[in-house]
Amino acid sequence: HKAGKRHTLRSLARLEAPIVALTAYTTPMARLMDPHCDLLLVGDSLGMVVYGMPSTLGVTTEMMIAHGQAVIRGSSRACVAVDLPFGSYQKSPQQAFETAARVMAQTEAGCVKLEGGEEMAETIYFLTQRGVPVIGHIGLKPQAVHTHGGFRTVGRGSEADQIIKDADAVVAAGAGAVVIESTVEPLARALSDRLPVPTIGIGASPACGGQILVGEDMLGLFTDFTPRFVRQFGTLAADIDKAVAAYAEAVRTRQFPGPENYVSASGTKTEGA
Ligand code: KIV
Ligand code: NA
Repeated sequence: HKAGKRHTLRSLARLEAPIVALTAYTTPMARLMDPHCDLLLVGDSLGMVVYGMPSTLGVTTEMMIAHGQAVIRGSSRACVAVDLPFGSYQKSPQQAFETAARVMAQTEAGCVKLEGGEEMAETIYFLTQRGVPVIGHIGLKPQAVHTHGGFRTVGRGSEADQIIKDADAVVAAGAGAVVIESTVEPLARALSDRLPVPTIGIGASPACGGQILVGEDMLGLFTDFTPRFVRQFGTLAADIDKAVAAYAEAVRTRQFPGPENYVSASGTKTEGA
């Protein structure tokens, strides 16, 4: 990876140190994360985190494109991946290609991510043969939350065999990295040992080749529910609460705006005007 050049899915695979990844949905957040991250994912988790949806199922391709453009504008160094949302790729390889081509053409993202194992292998092959780099996503698949029966840890007992088959299939189909979500540690370790491409874990132990978290989760900004795999590195929700309370108080007591914040009738130039 050359200084000043944006990471690609291929250059991520050559990193010696663990891949540092976060989700990003907006330009200002991407600007703050880009200097520190190798990969920024425009995750369809934005449906829940930004739009207050109960799951990711209602997210549209248009939403992913708008947020993908915002994150590209705010970054120059990290590889940017955009999630394909529910219903935009499962029907056929052709449908997946049409969606992925729209996303890549309109955002200039370096790759797309899609959820699925063996059943999506044909589609991943179709995309990767046609110029679309793909990150796979196995283990807990939030778009299949109703099939899983909730957000839970997967890969115990006989579930592990299927997830190993899924991993082998998506990598054989050309996936350049694989996100492993909410699996028990022995399975995440087995997958990371056997796969020839990086594994990027979320709730999948330190055995993975990289780690990803939802930015708002780790910043302490999205606190609706906090899965065990989240560590809060910041307290933004509390910080914002304090700031908004201070603003409200200042307005109500006419302490804001202050003399420095407006132009007086005499036209005297005030600070920052
Ligand atoms: O949408 C998302 O945020 C994701 C990550 C959790 C991997 O898919
Ligand atoms: Na996602």
